[in-house]
Amino acid sequence: MPFDSVWLNGHVATMQSGGAAFGEVPDGAVAVTGGRIAWVGPRSKLPAGDMGPRTVVHDVEGAWITPGLVDCHTHLVFGGDRAEEFEARLKGSTYTDIAKAGGGIRSTMLSTRSASTEVLQTSALARAERLLAEGVTTLEIKSGYGMNVNTEIRSLRVARNVGEALPVTVRTTLLGLHALPPEYEDRRGDFIDLVCQELLPMAAAEGVVDAVDAFCEGIAFNRNECASLFESAGSLGLPVKLHADQLSDTGGAALAASFSALSADHLEYASEEGIRAMATSKSVAVLLPGAFYFLRETRVPPITSFRKEGVPMALATDANPGSSPILSLLSILNMGCTLFGLTPDEALAGVTRNAACALGMADEIGTLEPGKRADLAVWDVGHPRELVYWIGANPCRTVVYGGAVVGS
Ligand code: NIG
Ligand code: FE
Repeated sequence: MPFDSVWLNGHVATMQSGGAAFGEVPDGAVAVTGGRIAWVGPRSKLPAGDMGPRTVVHDVEGAWITPGLVDCHTHLVFGGDRAEEFEARLKGSTYTDIAKAGGGIRSTMLSTRSASTEVLQTSALARAERLLAEGVTTLEIKSGYGMNVNTEIRSLRVARNVGEALPVTVRTTLLGLHALPPEYEDRRGDFIDLVCQELLPMAAAEGVVDAVDAFCEGIAFNRNECASLFESAGSLGLPVKLHADQLSDTGGAALAASFSALSADHLEYASEEGIRAMATSKSVAVLLPGAFYFLRETRVPPITSFRKEGVPMALATDANPGSSPILSLLSILNMGCTLFGLTPDEALAGVTRNAACALGMADEIGTLEPGKRADLAVWDVGHPRELVYWIGANPCRTVVYGGAVVGS
C-alpha cells in the first residue's frame, strides 16, 4: 500500500533505546499509512516504490520530529485552586501541617464536589489544551478529588470526555484512596470498603477506568489499605499505580512492585530494597519534579539507584492544584535535569518511551517505529536537547495525531 503521507527534510529523534542518544536519525523521514508509522529512517533510504500519486509530502524545513509526548501522571479534573494555601506555605506552613488541619486535598475535595460537571469539564479541557499545545498526544488523567461515588464517577467521565473532545488519547485512573473524607473520619475501614466494593466496580462496569491508584503516605493511606484496593483492582483485571514514598519511606515502592504496578510515582524516599523490587516487577519510576519544586522539597529521588538497577524513569507534570499547578511538560523536562540530574536524553525518554510504559502502552506509542500510532510532534529546534533547555518557550510547530495534522 502506498504511503498516505511522508514527513521529510528534517531530522528524526525516534527515542528508541539501545542506539544513538535520542534515537537520532539526521536527515530522516517518517512515512505514515492508515494512521500508523509505516517507515522511519534516513531520507536517502526512503523506499521510492511506496510513494504513490496521492502520498502527501510534508516538508518540515529542517525541524526535528519526535514521538508525540506522553504526560503519564496528571490530576486535571478539580474545582477551585489552592493559591491561598500556597501563600500560607510561603509564610512557613508546611504541606503536611495544612493537610493535617483538614486543608490541602480535602479543600480541593470540597470545591470539586460543589462544582457542576460542566465547570469540571470546561476547566479540565482548558488545562488539557495547554498540554496539547506542547506536543502531548497521550495523557493520563486521575480522579481523586471527589472522594465519594458521585463525584469520582463524574470526574472519570469528565476525563474520558477530554479524550473524546480533543485529539489526544486519554487514559483514566481511579485514584480511589487519595485522602480520607471528613464524613469517614472515624470509619476508615468503611471508606476503604466503599471504594473497593462500590465505587471501583461501578467505574469498571461503566468503562470509565483504565487503572487504579492510591496515595501511600503517613498523611494518607497505609500499605494494608492500599493493598486492599489493589486486590480489588486485580479482581477486576485493572492494572495499578501508586503515589509512593513522596514525603517519607513507607515501603510504597516495594508494595507497588508486589502488585506488578505499571508505575510507582514520586519516590523521593524510595528505599534500595523498593528499587530492586521495582526492577524485578518492571515497574516504571514516574518522577515528578514539579511537585518537588513547588513544595520546595530537598530530598531528590534516588536516580543513581534507578539507573544502576535498570528501573525505567518517566517524567510527568503531576498537574494538580496543591502540589504541582504546572501545565507545561516541557518545563518538567527542564526540571528533571536541573533538579534531579537526568540527562536530556533520559528526560525526553521520560516523556516518550518510558511514559508509554508507565501507561502500559509501550506497544502502541512512545517511540517512532513501524506499526506504532503515527503520533508525532514537529519542533523548531536545532537539536532535541533544546526541548529540555528552553524554559517558557514553546518550539512545537506541528502536532500529528494518528497520522492527521491536529495542531500547527
Ligand atoms: O501527586 N500526592 C498526592 N497527590 C497529589 C497532590 C494532591 C494535592 O495536594 O492536591 C500529588 O502530588
Ligand atoms: Fe499525583
